[in-house]
Amino acid sequence: MLLLTWWTWYIWSHAAVTFIEAGYDIAILDNLSNSSKEVLKHIENITWKAPKFYEADIRDKDAIEKIFKENKIDGVIHFAGLKAVWESCDKPYEYYENNVVGSNNLFEIMEKYNCKDIIFSSSATVYDPNENPPFIENTPTWNTTNPYGTTKFIIENMLRDLANHRDFRVANLRYFNPVWAHESWLIWEDPNDIPNNLLPYIMKVASWELPELSIYWDDYDTIDGTGVRDYIHVVDLVEAHLDAWKYLENSGKKAVFESFNLWTGTWTSVKEMIAYTEEIIWHPLNHEIVERRSGDIASAYCSPIKAKEILWWKAKLTVKQAIKDSWNFIQTNIR
Ligand code: UFG
Repeated sequence: MLLLTWWTWYIWSHAAVTFIEAGYDIAILDNLSNSSKEVLKHIENITWKAPKFYEADIRDKDAIEKIFKENKIDGVIHFAGLKAVWESCDKPYEYYENNVVGSNNLFEIMEKYNCKDIIFSSSATVYDPNENPPFIENTPTWNTTNPYGTTKFIIENMLRDLANHRDFRVANLRYFNPVWAHESWLIWEDPNDIPNNLLPYIMKVASWELPELSIYWDDYDTIDGTGVRDYIHVVDLVEAHLDAWKYLENSGKKAVFESFNLWTGTWTSVKEMIAYTEEIIWHPLNHEIVERRSGDIASAYCSPIKAKEILWWKAKLTVKQAIKDSWNFIQTNIR
């Protein structure tokens, strides 16, 4: 059985569906801080299988141990953690405690129960912003610009230590801006409150739920002055987790620490995202330029070659497809 640790459900619920459909038994650990049990019903509707669910927090070591006692856990897909860049600048200690201390608890219990295979959900924020993109996996990681990125940097290094000294096998997946939902249209990116991330925010403006989009400044050194990112369809992203798991299972090695960038290999600016959206929604999207957001960087995109060569994984869906899927979903209003 595989254990999936979550704290925000939209990506991770896709992962649950993908692993169940591939024939794995899974258990889910979630503290429900930014999610709801509703999603379990959706997963069951799609897969016809109810995943085992534990309402638990990775800061609570006893709660983690209970799961390992009650189940034979062969590996962990570790998504749990707080994830908003700007919020982490505001609440650094919460980020250190949830992400770093929580991960430490998890790794300690994993070793206690001789479970040493793990896929870690990391981020391109670990790359040194003084380096020029496209980032490759051995581009220096350092000089993180915000506490969220720092926690990812620390956890990556903890896992590297555990591979070197405790025979952990780690697939460290670095990704950036996952967008959109499952083709069943049952699982959607649905933050409990006003979204921080670009596409969910754009969708709320497009559907008149919010009055306008704030563009966080347009004087960056990019194609049109606005932030540039590699937006990846969530369906592509979770496929990579399955490929990474198979890679660990078949590696035949005693210890592994391998990082992979998960990207499409293309990039899009905020203004381009607005233009693509306007093409799809057929009306202008209200927006204004405001001050830079704390912790933001100008550009982040990278080379997806290593994932292609080793995991045989390649993103298939485009950012325009992601926008289209989001908009179709909003219009059908299935929530
Ligand atoms: N942006 C706006 N207005 C908004 C929201 C975003 O202009 O209302 C801009 C940002 O300045 C940035 C781009 O849109 O240039 C993307 O911003 P997001 O908030 O969607 O995503 P980030 O790149 O800031 O953060 C994402 C994930 C984080 C992760 C980070 C790096 O949301 O969880 O990538 O891995 F940490």
